Amino acid sequence: MSKSSFKRKILITGGAGFIGSHVVRLFVNKYPDYLIFNLDKLTYAGNLENLKDIEMASNYRFERGDITDAEYINDLFHQMQFDGVIHLAAESHVDRSIENPMQFILTNVLGTVNLMNAAKEAWKNNLENKRFYHISTDEVYGSLGEQGYFTEQTPYDPQSPYSASKASSDHFVRAYINTYNFPAVISNCSNNYGPNQFPEKLIPLFIHNIRNGKPLPVYGDGNYTRDWLYVVDHAQAIDIVFHHGKIGETYNIGGWNEWKNIDLVRLLCRLMDRELGNPEGTAEKLITFVKDRPGHDKRYAIDASKINRELGWKPSFQFEEGLLLTIRWYLNNEEWLNRVTSGDYQKYYEKQYRSKFDI
Ligand code: NAD
Ligand code: TYD
Repeated sequence: MSKSSFKRKILITGGAGFIGSHVVRLFVNKYPDYLIFNLDKLTYAGNLENLKDIEMASNYRFERGDITDAEYINDLFHQMQFDGVIHLAAESHVDRSIENPMQFILTNVLGTVNLMNAAKEAWKNNLENKRFYHISTDEVYGSLGEQGYFTEQTPYDPQSPYSASKASSDHFVRAYINTYNFPAVISNCSNNYGPNQFPEKLIPLFIHNIRNGKPLPVYGDGNYTRDWLYVVDHAQAIDIVFHHGKIGETYNIGGWNEWKNIDLVRLLCRLMDRELGNPEGTAEKLITFVKDRPGHDKRYAIDASKINRELGWKPSFQFEEGLLLTIRWYLNNEEWLNRVTSGDYQKYYEKQYRSKFDI
């Protein structure tokens, strides 16, 4: 099909990353009459292997490009005439943001504004059926005490360079909605887990370390709480918000599934022992309490009732079910894991944990 014969032309940024690859797969398979254009810089977190199963689809294109390059982004919009954008490209790891905040400002803030400027210019004469969907995080709301939930009205209070950069990009999106009547929608989601997540985040890192008999570095006392959502459920929520969310609105997305880190790690250890055929208690012996993350947010918990009430979305995977699917994916995709954990990753891991184990 030529590019002009598709019903819609959707730009997905960051489509080679963890969540992005699940969104690209869903859209390519579910909407054969849409052209899905995946733009990704292929940083350490982006991996085209994540999309092997759909790379030959006739409604899929990939291009390597950087959203911080305004001229390139403007040209791309001019050439492709996108009518929708799902913006996931970002620097996404809190620990890396503590090491190097500037890359987070460039990609997450400047990159987002570049995309909006290009879309605004391309759509200036006709806003019909145009939509810019900005994917964000619950971390913009800061930290909760023992009680309560983040709602769409919770004031922003970001604590890490990562969450400050995401909060800033969210503010710019709202400013463009208010100032320029820009057709955008935002969602803020809790912690995702599932296949294809880079093994620097808690769940894939710990699966990898248990597999290899390496220590499990639990930050501080492990009594930090996160709400976990299976990535396929998030991709489905993104589909629904993209098609049915109201322009100008924000939707919180979460799993109604809070876990203290230490309890989650113990559950993961039990499931891994079972999957690996090891005696119960083998993996737990690897738990090592290490130096805390600076500015570590105590608790995140999402009130996802608005998206349920207004758009009918709710999570479909039980946590143990999603966790087992995730574990099995990593155990069956050892080559993927070995490839992404070679080279620069070794240096990152050494640097990140050298001093933390030393307490
Ligand atoms: P990820 O780090 O796995 O993937 C990010 C992708 O963006 C990578 O493919 C990377 O190559 C690409 N990228 C980075 N810089 C780029 C640039 N300058 N130009 C073009 N592409 C670039 O991240 P993820 O976990 O999939 O998160 C995706 C989005 O969802 C992010 O915006 C993140 O803030 C948000 N989010 C993530 C979670 C989570 O738990 N992972 C939760 C809520 C929201
Ligand atoms: P992470 O997966 O980095 O996500 P986020 O910081 O965005 O919530 O971390 C999840 C939780 O696990 C967080 O409280 C920090 C903690 N954590 C550890 O205890 N050890 C680790 O090695 C990592 C990566 C995270």
